[in-house]
Amino acid sequence: MAVPAEGLPARVRIHEVGARDGLQNEKTVVPTEVKAEFVHRLAGAGLRTIEATSFVHPKWVPQLADAEQLFPLVQDLADTVALPVLVPNERGLDRALALGARRIAVFGSATETFASRNLNRTVDESLAMFEPVVAKARTDRIHVRGYLSMCFGDPWEGPVPIRQVVGVAKRLMDLGCDELSLGDTIGVATPGHVRALLAALGEAGVPASAIGVHFHDTYGQALANTYAALQHGVTTVDASAGGLGGCPYAKSATGNLATEDLVWMLDGLGIETGVDLGRLTATSAWMAERLGRPSPSRTVRALSHKES
Ligand code: HMG
Ligand code: MG
Repeated sequence: MAVPAEGLPARVRIHEVGARDGLQNEKTVVPTEVKAEFVHRLAGAGLRTIEATSFVHPKWVPQLADAEQLFPLVQDLADTVALPVLVPNERGLDRALALGARRIAVFGSATETFASRNLNRTVDESLAMFEPVVAKARTDRIHVRGYLSMCFGDPWEGPVPIRQVVGVAKRLMDLGCDELSLGDTIGVATPGHVRALLAALGEAGVPASAIGVHFHDTYGQALANTYAALQHGVTTVDASAGGLGGCPYAKSATGNLATEDLVWMLDGLGIETGVDLGRLTATSAWMAERLGRPSPSRTVRALSHKES
């Protein structure tokens, strides 16, 4: 039974990242048609923001090297579903725009080590790389998300100071990003830390309404962290169907918060998402079969077990 939530939003927008963050980290390269069917099934389950793929260097992320082939196969959804794609630089933007992308995401890092490993750039150089991308996107009225990775901890540098995170976040927003997604890339955040970062961002002029939260679930804290963010006024939550995911350039990153776990909690709180949990679970069970391993999501397991 849904128990209406006090002090929490009435509605949450789920930014589904399974087809991008999830599949970029799979050892097996998923066939393009299977990816296209995955995106269609996610849309059929009611998701309205589905990150489709990345226009990055194919050698850096071979799992998404079929972006040119995949993106046209999901264009039939474009009237009803936002289909953001990752672009690191102008070359990536050109590739995305040539296929009619209307939403893009650049992806920066709060730490130098991850900037170097993920983008082959310093933090300053990566922001300089994003500048013309965001400027051109804005001229073309393309919606721009700015991801910021390692907002809580970094596998090489340890805990990341809040001041450092806020500094890079501000610079990303000053480039002209429409929204900021706070990445807990390796899943080390805890709710108090989330509250403290959101408060510091608010003081620095980045409101909760412009923020999405992107939790990986390494230590099982992703739902608790999400709850803390909702209490702070955040209404955009990133999640990955079935808990797929990780990051090829941060080995300790496990899957994202599973969309099913998120929807189970939000349904219980009476918070609207538009997602049909049964159809979503069936989609993740179907994808798990394609990947040859069970979904790590407790909700997927519980509901699949119940149905069989
Ligand atoms: P680089 O090697 O420094 O590239 O990589 P470059 O600028 O020196 O260019 C070298 C060659 O690559 C050139 O070709 C370029 O044209 C080509 P050449 O002239 O030698 O023939 N090139 C490209 N080709 C296709 N598409 C492109 C592109 N760019 C250059 N876009 C680069 C720099 C940024 C390209 C590389 O580091 C890269 O692609 N990195 C992507 C890494 C990635 O995708 N990581 C995962 C996403 S981030 C994440 O998962 C975290 C997140 O989920 C949030 C969280 O959890 O924290 C978002
Ligand atoms: Mg991620």
